[in-house]
Amino acid sequence: AQKIIIDTDPGQDDAVAILLALASREIDLLGITAVAGNVPLDLTQRNARQVVELAGRVTPVFAGCDAPLARPLVTAEHVHGKTGLDGIALPEPGLPLQSQHGVDFIIETLRREAPDSVTLCALGPLTNIATAFERAPDIVERVQRIVLMGGGCFEGGNITPAAEFNIYVDPEAAKIVFGCGRPITVLPLDATHKALTSRDWIATMRGMGRIGEVVASWTDFFERFDVAKYGSEGAPLHDPCVIAWLLRPELFKGREINVEIETGSELTLGMTVADWWGVTDRPANALFIGDVDRDGFFDLLTERIGRL
Ligand code: BDR
Ligand code: CA
Repeated sequence: AQKIIIDTDPGQDDAVAILLALASREIDLLGITAVAGNVPLDLTQRNARQVVELAGRVTPVFAGCDAPLARPLVTAEHVHGKTGLDGIALPEPGLPLQSQHGVDFIIETLRREAPDSVTLCALGPLTNIATAFERAPDIVERVQRIVLMGGGCFEGGNITPAAEFNIYVDPEAAKIVFGCGRPITVLPLDATHKALTSRDWIATMRGMGRIGEVVASWTDFFERFDVAKYGSEGAPLHDPCVIAWLLRPELFKGREINVEIETGSELTLGMTVADWWGVTDRPANALFIGDVDRDGFFDLLTERIGRL
């Protein structure tokens, strides 16, 4: 099975991504590292433990960084609610928080496992991963691949006109990760805004027992806010695209291109400057996904969540 670490700021869509990974035998989830993002760290680490427990698993959860590398934290309660995981309220988790820091877990795991065998799946701001790379440069070449949700090209931004939330919150961290030299797959808004829930799919989830009901309540909550903001019909399941790409890359289309991160300009801070048309001679550093097979993606989710 593919060994992964999920770095995350749950987040309803992060939560669905975690469920998808836990439900998939092709994936060996070594641990979950929480980061500050959608809500502060004390909530994201708790939410991650609630999701693992909902799935009936004991995957270790670690708390990582509580603030971006160089800026104050920007959160997104306006999208995810006060807890970050609004919807059906889950019980206080019995699963304990690991005492090791999330960044130390990432470093130790990459040093312990065979080189090129662990993929980092990033579903939030890239603070934990960048901190691990800065603190332990020897681990960088041991990373198999980084698959991350973040950025946008033709789709523009969702937190500012130019920037997507995960990159905007910690652009300095994103710059470190995009410059690391290891293979990167980016699931930007161009793809994830096509991964929209439908009424039918939410109804299917609601009929699938306790876990399905919780998933339906999450996407219902998420949807209310997105309709107001984008006029779209459903809730975009951004972060599950990361796990779906690992499981079924043929559902996605993209290009190997150069992507640079804006860290200077106030107007376009956190923009992913993506050279889709190859107009520079800057070398490609990422597989940038532009499209997803929506039906195939939701069929995969239904099948896997049904297994839990
Ligand atoms: C990203 O930001 C968060 O609100 C979501 O969980 C997702 O990771 C979308 O821009
Ligand atoms: Ca997220």
